[in-house]
Amino acid sequence: MSFNGSLDSLYRQVIMDHYKNPRNKGSLEDSLTIDMNNPTCGDRIHLTLQVNDGKVTDAKFDGEGCSISMASASMMTQAIKGQDIETALKLSKSFSNMMQGKDYDDSIDLGDIEALQGVSKFPARIKCATLAWKAMEKGIRSQEETN
Ligand code: FES
Repeated sequence: MSFNGSLDSLYRQVIMDHYKNPRNKGSLEDSLTIDMNNPTCGDRIHLTLQVNDGKVTDAKFDGEGCSISMASASMMTQAIKGQDIETALKLSKSFSNMMQGKDYDDSIDLGDIEALQGVSKFPARIKCATLAWKAMEKGIRSQEETN
């Protein structure tokens, strides 16, 4: 098996693990709430964020969708929890560049998120992978506007 083949299967395992055992599943009370769907398939995400003093102190998600959209939501909540807003947005930018096959800032540790790299080869699935991230960005920007 080629190196790429085994890396692909490792990545697939990481994605399936997040899909089957999602991290931060649920909904937070008194939080920033963002609902978003992927118009092409109808899959949806319900994201709740707690933002205090410029930091994402907690994040949870709920929703329905394919393995990629749900695994990505799980990874996203894991990655942004405890980060300041600026870092969360930077992560989102890096992720979006990675998905589009562009150069991305790898100075921030993407951790499990890197497992989604292979999705960039399947343009139709990129929207699946970025759904939760778009919801997070929308939430943070709406919060910034009200401050
Ligand atoms: Fe709907 Fe992936 S098929 S988000």
